[in-house]
Amino acid sequence: MLYSKMLIPTLREDPKDAEIDSHKLMLRAGLIRKSAAGLYSYLPLGFRALLKVTQIVREEMNSAGALEILPPFVTPAELWKETGRYDTMGKEMLRFKDRHDNEMVLGPTHEEAFTNIVRETVHSYRDLPVNLYQINTKFRDEIRPRYGVMRCREFIMKDAYSFDTDEAGLEANYQAMRTAYRKIFKRCGLEVDPVLADTGSMGGSASEEFMVPSQVGEELIVKCHECGYVANTERAVAHREYSVSGDPLLAIAEKETPAVKTIEELTAFFSTTPDKFIKTLVYLADGAPVVALIRGDMEVNEVKLKNAAGAVELQLAGEEKVREVTGAPVGFAGPVGLKNVRIIADISIPPLVNAITGANKKDLHLVNVNPGRDFKWEKAADIQSVQAGDLCPECKRPLNAYHGIEVGHIFKLGYKYTDAMNVIFLDKDGKEQKPIMGCYGIGVGRTMASVIEQSHDEFGIIWPMSIAPFHILIVPVNVMDAAQMEAAEKLHKSLSSRYEVLMDDRDERAGVKFNDADLIGIPIRITVGKSFAAEGKFELKLRNSKEKEFLGEAELIKRVGEIYENEMAGFNRD
Ligand SMILES: Nc1ncnc2c1ncn2[C@@H]1O[C@H](COP(=O)(O)OP(=O)(O)OP(=O)(O)O)[C@@H](O)[C@H]1O
Ligand SMILES: [Mg+2]
Ligand SMILES: [Zn+2]
Repeated sequence: MLYSKMLIPTLREDPKDAEIDSHKLMLRAGLIRKSAAGLYSYLPLGFRALLKVTQIVREEMNSAGALEILPPFVTPAELWKETGRYDTMGKEMLRFKDRHDNEMVLGPTHEEAFTNIVRETVHSYRDLPVNLYQINTKFRDEIRPRYGVMRCREFIMKDAYSFDTDEAGLEANYQAMRTAYRKIFKRCGLEVDPVLADTGSMGGSASEEFMVPSQVGEELIVKCHECGYVANTERAVAHREYSVSGDPLLAIAEKETPAVKTIEELTAFFSTTPDKFIKTLVYLADGAPVVALIRGDMEVNEVKLKNAAGAVELQLAGEEKVREVTGAPVGFAGPVGLKNVRIIADISIPPLVNAITGANKKDLHLVNVNPGRDFKWEKAADIQSVQAGDLCPECKRPLNAYHGIEVGHIFKLGYKYTDAMNVIFLDKDGKEQKPIMGCYGIGVGRTMASVIEQSHDEFGIIWPMSIAPFHILIVPVNVMDAAQMEAAEKLHKSLSSRYEVLMDDRDERAGVKFNDADLIGIPIRITVGKSFAAEGKFELKLRNSKEKEFLGEAELIKRVGEIYENEMAGFNRD
């Protein structure tokens, strides 16, 4: 392929609205262009890399026994109404009406659509198990699209849905997907950690996310280097000892605390430690107030609280709501005497003895508050945040924390959708049964962006061979030099039979060509320049190394083969 025939609109400067390196580089290297917030076009170079990721995903899904299909991107609202998700999906799901006034949805995910296909096509245990997947467009009206294709609104996802006759079958499919995912990311040159993930308010089932460790990752992960425990903080648990004190329960009493509100101010005021306090926070769970209680030295994890409350949406209540629920301004809330509101207590609360908490009156606190005696709760649950330094739940050593980008997600769904949509098959004995489901997603564009986030330098992208838009870039330094051009063209022709080769035939200064070469990051660069004129040698340089080798044509072709084979083999090694 000739550079002059391509469309590679490289940029010299960092685009203004790009915050992270992969986003800047994808724009600067001419891989993508923005058309509106969260909407991007993949240009020729970017699309070539995207197709490579797609192909790796497809090969590994196929070899794990999954079957590719192509359902429509648009789904009818009816299906969403069957599972109740038409009301709970929120604004990420874009709804519209067609000309006949039918309600439709731009598919943000396809559990309903795939379940419907299986409902209509699978009738016997003989048809199961089946694992169907698509590599297709998704639309999610993200509240804050950012970081380019990393979090955009329209994107390509591989999503698979497995249907099994029983739990053992689901476990087998789940493990097959887990293995396939590890291979997929490895082949893309990405380092990922499978991390325990939140299973939502459905609970019970297993879920893991595949995380690319990265400073710019939006997920926070805790990991134990001792035993390997690793979990998204949305669901991580910590080992804690709640010492049961033998202290006698003292009489509850009021204590004036003028303008003393925060835990820091209170610990100073009472000359005690934060773990003696009960923090009382008012949230809105699907619009209704819920009070969360947590020990003063801990923070509430909103995902855990949301699950414990069985809510779809959760947010901290505003000042006015706090006053309405507690009768006091923010800073003086407490559980004693609260009426007509759900109270969810963290597991750190019941063991407390003679604790301090707000009195639901301005400038007043209560001391010697005893859970159970002085107040009750609807539910005690683990709703606490886990941080670096907290102890591993498996081996009690301190946990480390790091940020990660979620590139994939596997999830045991259970019977949620097959129950709601009444999917029936006949088992061996002719009895009606429902299949059990799993679902498995990979963001194809996000995977590609993550590769760049993990593999670049100050000059540009460093593509792994496996997903590089081209394997080799040939740079004739002076296109007006007939001998150089002739040699470059000959090389281009002979290498193109085995590799994807781009030749920079532009009449540009060498500096411009080399800068663009570094920016677009093709793994192997072959320069036809000074040393060719002097001694018939080509200059071979790899994007990920500073070294240069000078080789005659035969040696060069041999060396390129070694480099290519070696790098590709590395992606498939266990
Ligand atoms: N807005 C997006 N832009 C690009 N890729 C996305 C986006 N949302 C999700 N993905 C990709 O699709 C995969 C499967 O979707 P899933 O519903 O599990 O994501 P999610 O939990 O909503 O992700 P996130 O927490 O980042 O919003 C994700 O692992 C990710 O790779
Ligand atoms: Mg999301
Ligand atoms: Zn551990």
